[in-house]
Amino acid sequence: MKLPVLILVLATLTLGGCQSIGGHGGDSTSPSPALYEQLGKRAGIATIVEDLLYLIVDDTRINEHFAGVDVEQFHTNLTDQLCSVSGGPCTYTGRGMRESHADMNITDTEFNALAENLILAMEANGVPVAAQNRLIERLVPMYPDIRNL
Ligand code: HEM
Repeated sequence: MKLPVLILVLATLTLGGCQSIGGHGGDSTSPSPALYEQLGKRAGIATIVEDLLYLIVDDTRINEHFAGVDVEQFHTNLTDQLCSVSGGPCTYTGRGMRESHADMNITDTEFNALAENLILAMEANGVPVAAQNRLIERLVPMYPDIRNL
């Protein structure tokens, strides 16, 4: 590829990236700062995860999995993970998804129950529906590891 052509291609890609930061288009591969901000940055995400934990405790479809879990540690790690995945300046220091969910035999119903609770927690914190969907979209690639497939 000749240089001017390459520059044009790169410019097009960059402009496309800016559009997706503005909330249009769908760049599902690279983190967008806009999503992180729509979630209320790390503090907002921490509140969402706290609300999620309350929903999990009350949800008989999944709460047995969480018996004996270090709640503070789980809260910190999930907050950092969602922060990082949404494009925020956080480093996730927990275990990989395959390792941390091994031997749990998580079913599709259970996976969906957790996703549903996360959506409810985002809803309760005023996160726009489009942003809710974008976060869920970024968690989907973790599905095979969490389901241990
Ligand atoms: C998109 C879905 C999910 C994400 C993003 C997710 C994320 C995480 C993260 C970040 C941790 C912390 C790992 C660590 O501390 O090293 C974790 C642990 C855990 N997850 Fe998930 N998870 C998901 C789905 C599920 C589901 C569906 C269940 C069960 C119904 C579940 C049950 C657990 C439990 C019990 C732990 C604690 C493990 C331990 O401390 O030994 N997770 N998850």
